Formats: sequence, C-alpha cells, structure tokens
Amino acid sequence: MIVLGIETSCDETAAAVVDDRRNVLADVVLSQIEEHRAYGGIVPEIAARAHLDTLDGVIREAMSRAGMDFAALDGIAATGGPGLIGGLIVGVMTAKGIAAARGLPFLAVNHLEGHALTARLTDQVGFPYLLLLVSGGHCQILAVEAVGSYRRLGTTLDDAIGEAFDKVAKMLGLGYPGGPEVERRAALGRSARFDLPRPMAGRPGSDFSFSGLKTAVRHAIEALPAGPLGDDDVADMCASFQDAVGDVLVDRCGHAMATFRAGWPGGDTLVVAGGVAANREVRRRLEDLCRRNGMRFVAPPLALCTDNAAMIAWAGLERLALGDVDGLDFAPRPRWPLDPDARPAGVKA
Ligand code: KG4
Ligand code: ZN
Repeated sequence: MIVLGIETSCDETAAAVVDDRRNVLADVVLSQIEEHRAYGGIVPEIAARAHLDTLDGVIREAMSRAGMDFAALDGIAATGGPGLIGGLIVGVMTAKGIAAARGLPFLAVNHLEGHALTARLTDQVGFPYLLLLVSGGHCQILAVEAVGSYRRLGTTLDDAIGEAFDKVAKMLGLGYPGGPEVERRAALGRSARFDLPRPMAGRPGSDFSFSGLKTAVRHAIEALPAGPLGDDDVADMCASFQDAVGDVLVDRCGHAMATFRAGWPGGDTLVVAGGVAANREVRRRLEDLCRRNGMRFVAPPLALCTDNAAMIAWAGLERLALGDVDGLDFAPRPRWPLDPDARPAGVKA
C-alpha cells in the first residue's frame, strides 16, 4: 500500500509518499520561516496564504520524486488538526479533492498521532511505549497503547517547551525559530553561570510548567549591566536555560517511566518526538535517563522530528491497514487532543 501525506497545520507546507514496508519514497518540506521571520513568530493569515500558494507544487514535487502518479496510490492522508485553521482547511480540502477525483480513501490524521507513530516508521517500535512529545505547540508525555489509543501521563500547565525556547531566543535577540539557535549558542556557554529554577521538579506526577523558567530568564537578563548583551552573556544564558530544561525533562520523564512500568507491563521503550527532539542535549539527557532505568531509547532522525508529511502518510497507512478511514464530511479541528481524558480549561493540547 502507498499513501500520499499532506501536512499544513503550522508553518511547513509538506507532502510525502510512504509505503507500508516503511519506505519513504518522497519527503518534501517547504518551510515558511522566511515569510514569518520579520514578525518573530508565525502569523496565521500569512501561513494560510503561503500553504494555498505552494501546496499544489509541493505535492507535484513529491509525486515526481516518488516517480509515480495518483493512480499508484491507495489513500490520501492530510493533517486534520490540531493546528491553525486556515492551513488545515487548505490541506484537508486538497486531500479531499484528490481522494474524490481518484476514488481513493481519505484519512484525516491527528498531527500529534503523526509525531507519536513516527518511531514505528523509523524503528519498528511495538506497542505499548512511552512517548515524550515536545514541540512548539505541544508538551506531553503519553502511553501509546495502539493506533488511536493514547493515555496522557503529563502535560504542560502553561507554555509548550519549544515555545519556551523560542521566547528565550527572542529575549536574547536571537532569530526565529529559537530552538536551533539556543542550542548552537548553548554549546559555547557555561551552564553554571545563571541560577535558574527547575519548575515542577520533585513534584508528584509528570506535568510540566515553563512560564516561571521563562520569567526567571527575563529577570536574569534585566539584572545584567545595561547595554547590549555580550556574546558570552548570550551563550551562558542559553547554556543555563538548556540545562534547566534538561533537568526538568529528566525529572518528569523519570516519574512517567515509573507510572508507565507499573501500568503497562511489557513496555520498555521511551520515544521522543516533535521539534525539540532535534536538540542534541535533550537527546543526550534522555538517553542517559533510559540507560540508568533499563529502557530502550528511540529518537527518529532529525528531519522526521520536526514537522513533515512522511509522519502523516505513515499514520494514514497505519489507519488504512485497520480500515479506519474518514468521510469527506470531516471538518478540520483546530483543537484535537490525543487522549480521552478531559483537560482542564486553558490547558494546551
Ligand atoms: O514539531 P515542530 O516542527 O512544530 C510544532 O508542531 O510545533 O516543532 C517546532 C519547535 C520550535 O519551537 C523550535 O524552536 C523547536 O521545535 N526546535 C528546537 C530545536 N529545533 C527545533 N528546540 C530546541 N532545540 C532544537 N535544536
Ligand atoms: Zn509538530
């Protein structure tokens, strides 16, 4: 089986062709970073228009790289949510159009499920496994039981972790997106220089909070002598921030591992996914945690950690194999939690 995947939920316009033997036949990602850079963040209207302008060409490119036409496909998958509604509409309508014209099954994929199942595409991980999903919009720890079956063990009470990286980068005058730049600067800095808090560390459960850490960074910057920040100041702040994030992740994941082991016997793998999983220091800390706890650690290749359409095509294939397809009346969902538990008001997915 071969599925075309389409991803337009945020600021990447992406299309990919994947088969059920785990071959990524084409994987095209067109980033809109340049369009949004001047604003220091994503502007939803600009994102929607850019998806509309470029998606046809991105799909054509993916089909041509895979060396096939629509007749070779067994299904069309598109991100159905969560995400920015304008972009979701563009991707879903395009996928429905192709599906209707070709008489193919349509699959509306949850973007988070795309991230969650990537490790099965790249590393053949079996159910159940523990998933740390850390991106610009999400920060959750989930027990992945099966396709479509997730239990949330922890979530952020305020900012997503990637958002915290981006905001710290902005405070330090670094570019957008901030994560990669903070990581680069942190490698040159001294993590012991600034004494930053480790929010939630040591508390029961596996929830996160990053707003206090962000505020502490702002106060530490304000306490420096007036004038432009020196390269050393920036590098030391990045290193101190990244170290605090690492400590928090290790503490929260450590708790989640204990819960997971008790509740899901047989599970022995921690998977990390989402854009922040591209951070080498984050990976190193988690790998070390797994080694100490006798768990297997799986992190997909960097290009499949950040937003892409191969993960959407793969999640579509997993659903298609189960006969779990969607009708053409599917409506895009700006909010779409993976787990069945009700979330407190105001808490992000
Ligand atoms: O998964 P993703 O591409 O999009 C969302 O679904 O949000 O994640 C993007 C986020 C951004 O906040 C970006 O700053 C962060 O992932 N990110 C990183 C790194 N690369 C990307 N954060 C820390 N270190 C990195 N190397
Ligand atoms: Zn994502």
